[in-house]
Amino acid sequence: MKIIKAMLCYLMPLMFLPQAQARDLRLGLITPPTHQWTKAAEAFAADLGNQSNGRLKVMIFPSGQLGNEAQMLQQLQTGALDMAFLTAGEMANRRPDFAALFAPYLIKTPQQAQQLLQGKTASQMLDELNSLGLVGLGYSMAGLRQIVMKNEVKTVADLQGTKVRTIPIEPERDFWIKVGAAPTPIPLPALYDAFANGQVDGMQIDFEGTWNTRYLDYAGTIIHSSHMMLPMVGVASGRSWKSLDNKDRELISSLAKQHLNDVFSIYEKLDQDYLKKIQDSGARILEVDRSFFGSAVDQWYKEWRIKAPSLPKLEAEAATL
Ligand code: BEZ
Repeated sequence: MKIIKAMLCYLMPLMFLPQAQARDLRLGLITPPTHQWTKAAEAFAADLGNQSNGRLKVMIFPSGQLGNEAQMLQQLQTGALDMAFLTAGEMANRRPDFAALFAPYLIKTPQQAQQLLQGKTASQMLDELNSLGLVGLGYSMAGLRQIVMKNEVKTVADLQGTKVRTIPIEPERDFWIKVGAAPTPIPLPALYDAFANGQVDGMQIDFEGTWNTRYLDYAGTIIHSSHMMLPMVGVASGRSWKSLDNKDRELISSLAKQHLNDVFSIYEKLDQDYLKKIQDSGARILEVDRSFFGSAVDQWYKEWRIKAPSLPKLEAEAATL
């Protein structure tokens, strides 16, 4: 009897300790289930479930199921969506400074992209997302940008007047205007049909998408340009963040960072692997560098150094990589 009493004295107070709340979190992305971003989101969700003993569950909505990135951003602002892995393009639409991350030929490799995005300037930019009602958890990236065209391309003259798909953001649109093409903004989930139906003559995309989504099947030329990075930002809704306790925030933050970081290293290898597959398929590949685009790159920098004040700082950091 004495032992039972002693046990009760010990256990009773524990029974009344506040229990950390169970939460179902919704995470949206535009990428399909086969894409590295979606795989990273799934790995993050699994780790978060395990490390919170099943208390924090993440439901993943890939392929733009919750709408395009602009719509997801609004849902994050109202708290209807808890988390998202978004292209930094959506940030550039709201804060032109983010356009600096889309500067052509700013970096040469995924490793340099990682160093730049985790450097001083880009990290400060991430903090600015608070003003949009978001919490920036970290950056990541997709493969370096290449160009897939329906027809044969030998020089930049062959791109004049062609409809080139971009993501729906101003710095990309402006680059293609300066190249002399007709930029046509199309979000990723609608791209396959647009290319197959001839709505666009080509696109800006990475090797991963070219291969996995079979844009390759309609391609006359793959221009291996690696002319831009496509930064991704892992974000949480400021509203739902406030409703989490500190421990849960720390756990979510550190696991998200870890999985976003993994994606950088994955692309270091993946860009090479998919290029090899495309080469082995016998596709026509045109290797180009900055000079291919004539004065378009310099013109772009001239204007965007003014519109995106962080650009000169990023250029200075990139020069040291
Ligand atoms: C795109 O729109 O091209 C894209 C978006 C996310 C990941 C990869 C590519």
